[in-house]
Amino acid sequence: MASVLALGRHPEYQEAIYREVAEGDLLEVAEASKTLQRIFVESIRLFSASIVIPRRAATDLVCRGKDPQGNVVFERRFKRNEILAPSPPFAGRDPSRFEDADKFQPQRFPEIPKVLDWIPFGDGPHTCPGQWLAKSEILIFTTLLIRRYRFSSLPVQEPRQHAYMTIKLAEETSLLLTKR
Ligand code: HEM
Repeated sequence: MASVLALGRHPEYQEAIYREVAEGDLLEVAEASKTLQRIFVESIRLFSASIVIPRRAATDLVCRGKDPQGNVVFERRFKRNEILAPSPPFAGRDPSRFEDADKFQPQRFPEIPKVLDWIPFGDGPHTCPGQWLAKSEILIFTTLLIRRYRFSSLPVQEPRQHAYMTIKLAEETSLLLTKR
């Protein structure tokens, strides 16, 4: 799981999260932990599960991409029935959108976004209906782990990724747990 592996490589965030979740109702503290939420958001930016979310244009359309200042940085016209292939991992690492896009920097999100617009869960009428369940499961699992253990993950550098139908890590990763 991307959040846990990232935390294993950045133990300083484990302690920050521990201070926020050490006591209290599991679900409440997990959902309220700002550090944990930032880790989730930053991890899914760098490690999206889908390589591509294909769409067929239902009508002729113009797609425009804008930089954070709102300037149009590209424009492309599509004919009806053309296939579009938006890619969550490329959107998540777009350098015109994210400074030092390949770096793990959870503090880049001063506010926790309610909807992740770099499309790890897609968008529109078919956006992933399980995204809030998935997020809750990840927050709860990570909270349980951090309450009981300190951990480190291998390899220490960011693992490479391979794209199949979904994206998988290209190498074996492991977690070393030490009881608190
Ligand atoms: C981290 C975990 C997950 C990720 C990254 C993820 C990602 C996605 C993505 C990218 C799509 C395509 C959205 C689109 O076409 O715009 C999708 C669709 C879908 N997901 Fe998820 N998902 C996750 C977890 C879940 C869970 C836990 C459930 C169910 C409990 C779920 C159920 C679905 C369903 C039913 C669709 C099809 C929606 C439709 O076509 O209308 N997903 N998901």
